[in-house]
Amino acid sequence: FAGQHGELLSLAVDVGREAAELVRRRRPEGRVPVADVKSSATDPVTEIDRASEELIRRLVAEARPDDGFLGEEGDTLVGTSGVEWVVDPIDGTVNFMYGVPAYAVSIAARTGDQVVAGFVVNVADGRAWGATLGGGAYRLDGEPRRFVTPTPPPLTHLLVATGFGYDPEVRAAQGASVTQLLPQVRDIRRIGAAALDLCALAEGTVDAYVERGLQPWDLAAGGLIATEAGCVLSGLEGAPDRRLVMGAHPEIAPEYFELVRACGF
Ligand code: IPD
Repeated sequence: FAGQHGELLSLAVDVGREAAELVRRRRPEGRVPVADVKSSATDPVTEIDRASEELIRRLVAEARPDDGFLGEEGDTLVGTSGVEWVVDPIDGTVNFMYGVPAYAVSIAARTGDQVVAGFVVNVADGRAWGATLGGGAYRLDGEPRRFVTPTPPPLTHLLVATGFGYDPEVRAAQGASVTQLLPQVRDIRRIGAAALDLCALAEGTVDAYVERGLQPWDLAAGGLIATEAGCVLSGLEGAPDRRLVMGAHPEIAPEYFELVRACGF
C-alpha cells in the first residue's frame, strides 16, 4: 500500500495477523473462561483479550515508538508523532468465549479525529478487510481485491445488522427500538462483533447497520472500511458517535436514517 496511510495499513495488517494467530492458537476447546468483568456484569474480558492487546501494543511500539495507543483493555499511551492506534484485541468477546465463529481483531490508525487506516480480520474464518482514507476498501485474505458496496434493495427489504452494548439501561431502550424496526424491514441480524457488522455493511452482506453505545475501538477500523467502500455513516445528528452509529448505501441512507430516528434509536 502506497503513501503514509498505506504504510500504516501495512503495519496494521502485519500486527493484526500476528494477533489473530495468537487468538486462534490460545483458544482452548469448549468455553473460554472469563478473567474479569468490565463496564457491567455481562461485559467480559478473557486472558486472551489481554494477551492479544499486549502483543499488538508491543509490535506497534517496536515499529513506531512515538505513536499513541488506545486499546479496549486499557492500554493507553500518549504519543508524540500525531498518529494514534485504536485497537480492539478481540471484538466479539462473547462469541469468542462461546465459540460462535464471529470474532475479530480490529486495528486502526488515526491522526487527530480522522481514521486514516483500518484492518479487521475475523479470526474464526480468516476473512480480512482493510482500507486507507481516500484509498478505497479491500478484501485482504488472498490477493487484495478492491470492492464497493453494492446497490441495496428498497427499505422494506433491508437486512439490518445491529448490536447491543453492555449497559442495561441502553439495552432496554435498544430493545424497544428494535421492536419498532423489525416489522418494517426484511430482518435483523445481531452478529456479535461491531467491526464485522461494519465490514458486512461495506460488502453488502447486510444492507444497513444501527447501534447505540459503540466505543472508538468498535468503530474505528470497520467504520473506515464501510465509508471507503461507499457507505454513509451518521450519528443521531452529524457524525457517528457513542450515542448512535447508523450506516447505509447513499441511495437509501436518507430514508433509512429517517426510519431509524422514527424508531427512537
Ligand atoms: C462488542 C461487540 C458487540 C457490540 C458491542 C461491543 P467486544 O465488543 O462489538 O457486537 O454490540 O457494542 O461492545 O466487547 O466484544 O469487544
